[in-house]
Amino acid sequence: MIILDGKKTSQEMRNEIAKEVETIVKKGGKIPHLAAVLVGNNGASITYVNAKVRDCEEVGFKSTLVKLSETISEKELLEEVAKLNADEDIDGFIVQLPLPKHIDDQKVIMAIDPKKDVDGFHPQNLGRMALNLPSYLPATPMGIMDLLDRYNIETGGKHCVVVGRSHIVGLPASILMGRNHYPGNATVTLTHSRTTNLKELLRDADIIIAALGKPDFITADMVKDGVVVIDVGTTRVVDKSKKSGYKLKGDVDFEGVSPKASYITPVPGGVGPMTRVSLLKNTLMAARNKM
Ligand code: GUN
Repeated sequence: MIILDGKKTSQEMRNEIAKEVETIVKKGGKIPHLAAVLVGNNGASITYVNAKVRDCEEVGFKSTLVKLSETISEKELLEEVAKLNADEDIDGFIVQLPLPKHIDDQKVIMAIDPKKDVDGFHPQNLGRMALNLPSYLPATPMGIMDLLDRYNIETGGKHCVVVGRSHIVGLPASILMGRNHYPGNATVTLTHSRTTNLKELLRDADIIIAALGKPDFITADMVKDGVVVIDVGTTRVVDKSKKSGYKLKGDVDFEGVSPKASYITPVPGGVGPMTRVSLLKNTLMAARNKM
């Protein structure tokens, strides 16, 4: 069993990006600039956005954090998005999800200029991705593809079962795994809460991408020997022994499943850091597209 070390792999990738930034600076080019919009006080969102800002600093990008009140109206948030669309110094930006209940996520995403949509959530980018045209790929699915690629994992002709059809992970991951491309060319089954024979499908899977947000949901009896397991779950569960008061739990019972797996991602330290580096890759691409 080989651990897919997202922490180490993402560090290598950040080092590569930092070198590219140095080259851009030497040539007098523009330093990539990412903005992140954070609405309200969701603990996980604050942690994620702060990490994104730190990543920018590490590789030499500029970053701007736009903090907005939980009570901001949808109209006001759309105005903030319009400002970022118009700001020539900002190459790309993200609006951290989830947004407060009174704001329509989809409306906000649709308002982002697709050329600055470094989350790859705009329908134009999702459509271009599905057609295998150049686009910003959503960060988590892109991180998964990079992890498979960096570990040279064969995906062509394999049966990939994706669990969860969220717009930001499961759905785009299923499209990427099925594209005529490496990593991809897999036979993909996209499963969700209405799937009736999930165990049977999982037991047939060569590759499992678990993104349903239920800790330890996938257990050893549900997988076959040699399976490749990508665990996207990051549920916070109470752990008094940690300074933060919680620990992160994946969707896969790591202890039980890992002895049967050929490759498996840990939680934390697997997909999470890969997601973060994908945003840097997209921001670098956004800045390059303007040169
Ligand atoms: N919330 C959880 N993951 C993401 C992400 O990748 N981007 C944004 N904007 N919000 C998220």
